[in-house]
Amino acid sequence: MTELTLSNLSATSVPADAVVIGLVKGGSGPVPAPGPAAAAAVDEAFGGRLASALATVGAKGEAEEITRLPTPDGVPAPLVVAVGLGAAPEAGEPYAPETLRRAAGAAARALAGSEHAAFALPVDGDGALAAVTEGALLGAYTFTAFKGRGHEGAGPLARITVLDPGAAEASHTAAAERALVVAEEVARARDLVNTPANALNPARFAALVESAAPEYGVEVEILDETRLAEGGYGGILGVGQGSDSPPRLVRVAWRSPAAAATLALVGKGITYDSGGLSLKPVGANETMKCDMGGAAAVFSTVVAAARLGLAVNVTGWLALAENMPSGSSTRPGDVLTMYGGKTVEVLNTDAEGRLVMADALARACEESPDALVDIATLTGAMMVALGKRTFGVMANDDAFRTLVHETAGQAGEASWPLPLPADLLDTLKSPVADLANVGERWGGGLTAGVFLQEFVTDGTRWGHLDIAGPAFNEGGPFGYTPKGGTGSAVRTLVRLAERVADGELAG
Ligand code: BES
Ligand code: MN
Ligand code: ZN
Repeated sequence: MTELTLSNLSATSVPADAVVIGLVKGGSGPVPAPGPAAAAAVDEAFGGRLASALATVGAKGEAEEITRLPTPDGVPAPLVVAVGLGAAPEAGEPYAPETLRRAAGAAARALAGSEHAAFALPVDGDGALAAVTEGALLGAYTFTAFKGRGHEGAGPLARITVLDPGAAEASHTAAAERALVVAEEVARARDLVNTPANALNPARFAALVESAAPEYGVEVEILDETRLAEGGYGGILGVGQGSDSPPRLVRVAWRSPAAAATLALVGKGITYDSGGLSLKPVGANETMKCDMGGAAAVFSTVVAAARLGLAVNVTGWLALAENMPSGSSTRPGDVLTMYGGKTVEVLNTDAEGRLVMADALARACEESPDALVDIATLTGAMMVALGKRTFGVMANDDAFRTLVHETAGQAGEASWPLPLPADLLDTLKSPVADLANVGERWGGGLTAGVFLQEFVTDGTRWGHLDIAGPAFNEGGPFGYTPKGGTGSAVRTLVRLAERVADGELAG
């Protein structure tokens, strides 16, 4: 992964292959955004003609616009990469962290294949240094594990130096260190999502977790198919029984000696969702390796909490199964007995996520966490409702739903609060079982949430994130978001763990 350094060198003295500066839209052309004295120094090196040189080659300062110029003699870095920041903030106002994060990410992407880039973006103001660092690292991500030798392409930007006059201050190094941990854990989730299903089945996912966790002091417990059967995990077993690769339930835990609260996280880990006997059509199955994005986010978050030494216990549950059609698959109409004893009539085997999640939620509630959040690529309906870049937030507690939604905003992730209408439960009635796994089509994302709520017991405070839209980017890269796996919800969950550690969980 990309190497990170903070430096108080100036943009015209740092030895690098490129210097990144910010550009804002001005009334009569682009204006270099003041950085750590950076833009000013670069402008000086250009004899005061940086803005006009950039304008000459078409720069406007639009958000994420990239313009390259060679530097004049005397500047060690041979290249200036100017990245647009859009309209300048009001006088005296800081840049929005997400603006900086995206700009840094766009610049890092544009520099793929380079060895070393210095970022001279505005890093004063709350969270600006963290945002620039995080964006640059997230934008530098590449996934080449499955490219043939010699076909790896440009490769990621290898070294990032963030220029910061306060580089020596402890609070600055701490902010950069946090950004590095968060970016590396987002990258871990992206790697897991991008790994094709023939290389990541439930057992392999569990083995990866088992081998990675001890390094960070994270406990691991794996329930294989035998122990799942002994424990009565009918949802996970019912979904996994059609596959040659048996299911797993993995429990990971970061335990802090200073913890006053426990946050439990449950992630949907369908390593491939074919739909099962309710088979998905061509056009709907090509990206279904991404259906374990929730479990990936949960594992990354638990590791991040450990690496950051957060004063909170974080328990993660990874509900891992492969949903395949075969002679041993669950049939539409079959009834499963879930963990805890509720029965479910499976009317559509493609509504499998809620079945594995139900078992894991019921199990997680037994440990009486102070809060429980599940993360799942659960419904296409959520993408219809909120699009491809925004995840839905539902909860059994209004204040907690607001807290989670605001936490996502703090982390720079788009989310939106949604209700769990009680009347939708009526649509999940079954003549033969306690519940059916599908109900009303209208508001299908909410119906799925209402189904999950039935498995949240003991008055546990619970939130549900449906990341079906943002987990996988089928379009072109943008800002710090690559094509493919995005690591959706990792930053939100890490921030949530921090807020729980800070005692912000009211009530
Ligand atoms: N994994 C899918 C949801 C999904 C769709 C995630 C597109 C990412 C992109 C989920 O298991 C599913 O198939 N849901 C069904 C539920 C329906 C049968 C009630 C859906 O949304 O169509
Ligand atoms: Mn499905
Ligand atoms: Zn699914």
